[in-house]
Amino acid sequence: MTTNIATRKHVLMTIAVSVALAACALARNPDPKVGMKVFWDKGCIHCHPVLGEGGNIGPDLSRSPSTADGVELAAAMWSHAPQMWQRISQESLQLPTFQADEMEDLFAFLAMARSFDEPGNAAAGMQLFRAKRCVECHSIRGQGGKVGPDLATVASNRNPVAWVTAMWNHAPGMFRALAVKGVQFPRFERSEMVDLESYIRSAAGAGTKQQIYLRPAAAGQGAVLFRTKQCIRCHSIGAAEGGRLGPDLSRVALPRRFGEIAVVMWNHAPEMERLVAAQSIPYPKFEAQELADVLSYLNSLSLNRPGNPTAGAATFAAKGCTACHATTASGKGVGPNLTRLQQSLTPVSIARMMWNHGPAMLQRMEKSSIEWPAFNTKELADTLAYLASIQARSQPTSQLKISAEEP
Ligand code: HEC
Ligand code: HEC
Ligand code: HEC
Ligand code: HEC
Repeated sequence: MTTNIATRKHVLMTIAVSVALAACALARNPDPKVGMKVFWDKGCIHCHPVLGEGGNIGPDLSRSPSTADGVELAAAMWSHAPQMWQRISQESLQLPTFQADEMEDLFAFLAMARSFDEPGNAAAGMQLFRAKRCVECHSIRGQGGKVGPDLATVASNRNPVAWVTAMWNHAPGMFRALAVKGVQFPRFERSEMVDLESYIRSAAGAGTKQQIYLRPAAAGQGAVLFRTKQCIRCHSIGAAEGGRLGPDLSRVALPRRFGEIAVVMWNHAPEMERLVAAQSIPYPKFEAQELADVLSYLNSLSLNRPGNPTAGAATFAAKGCTACHATTASGKGVGPNLTRLQQSLTPVSIARMMWNHGPAMLQRMEKSSIEWPAFNTKELADTLAYLASIQARSQPTSQLKISAEEP
């Protein structure tokens, strides 16, 4: 197992594209490579495999459907904590605690691992190449249509993001050819794009996949590109600013895997092309690195998905938290007063508080025969919004003070 882990560690280190979390929302840019080390050093790897490698006591955190985004990850961790801590003591491992940076990096690492596609299915890809009528315009090593370029050259030395970048950049030209030939725009679902790429690569005889080594994708850079590429003209991120022609991208559930989020982008190319033309916005072209950064930024938005503080107050009470935690500035309880938390409230910080304080909290609960409350994703997002709202009230900003003084 040790060699396997070491190999996988190497693969993960050198893999082409990786994801970092929203730098805009955090003071620093979390580092997935450091996060991988945290995952090893804190002993998670002892029980949890990542991309199929590692221990087999707990679920694979890069593949478990209940850890698909940051909020889900925090909720799943919280909900399974007692069973997990019990396992940790059974295995005579130390209960880990976390510094703020360590938990950020750990989340960045798991976000990266969750973004990697499964290897594509070349046989399914071959079907698609015909069914989507690519074959009518494109050849692979000379075999097939001649309207568009031969795809062997594109396929031989690219990773999935670079592949979609090529399709994306050529989309306007492809649209014209499609219109001329009367072929419908080829839409894709789920992993179809990965299957197709896998087929084209094998048909092109590009045996081993030669990676383009992009630097780790940076969500912070993606946030900048989201503006400079004019996405912001049509899409808002949260209510504050941005266009209204397209959906608010902080509120849609986008798939995690690069191949699948790329499909979402691809499917919207015709509508976008039509709209950008009408608005005289230039069609946004990308370098592969740039697209990786934007996708990573879109992936990171789920961490900031806003909860509902009113629903959160009800959840907080229903889960029995009020039995021990005061939620007014002067209130007292068995547990700490939650109006004076040191850290801002995010899925990452609540996960850290849970590891650091949870075992003591669990002990208190067991003494009082209170069951450890499980949270689903929505409940956790709402509770975080509620806890954030009581921080604001107990630590008024200068603005609030001013409005209080002016009757
Ligand atoms: C001693 C073994 C062990 C260690 C060490 C361990 N876990 Fe777990 N973990 C488990 C088990 C077992 C479960 C499933 C518990 C259950 O079924 O309720 C689990 C569940 C989880 C889940 C929920 C997964 C899901 O699909 O719902 C998350 C997230 C998680 N662990 C994260 C971590 C992280 C992060 C670390 C390192 C800080 C860690 N675990 C360390 C054994 C472990
Ligand atoms: C009606 C003809 C037509 C169909 C059908 C078609 N394409 Fe294209 N495709 C083109 C044309 C023309 C271009 C070049 C556009 C340009 O560069 O302006 C192109 C460009 C591309 C490129 C970029 C190639 C490069 O050199 O970077 C890729 C990748 C691609 N197509 C993939 C596909 C796939 C996959 C399908 C099937 C789902 C498909 N195309 C269906 C006509 C077509
Ligand atoms: C001219 C307006 C416009 C621009 C510019 C634009 N989009 Fe869109 N976008 C839309 C519209 C309209 C939709 C919804 C309709 C559709 O999906 O076809 C959409 C949908 C999307 C979706 C899918 C959302 C969902 O609900 O699944 C994503 C992801 C997306 N856009 C990303 C981007 C990115 C990244 C950029 C910048 C490169 C961008 N868009 C630029 C108009 C635009
Ligand atoms: C039986 C009493 C009890 C209940 C019920 C309880 N807690 Fe706690 N909680 C504690 C104790 C005690 C601590 C401090 C543990 C320590 O000292 O490490 C704590 C710590 C915390 C912290 C960390 C605070 C800090 O200063 O970092 C958070 C956040 C928290 N609890 C949230 C919750 C939530 C949310 C609920 C409801 C799901 C809840 N607690 C239910 C007793 C409880």
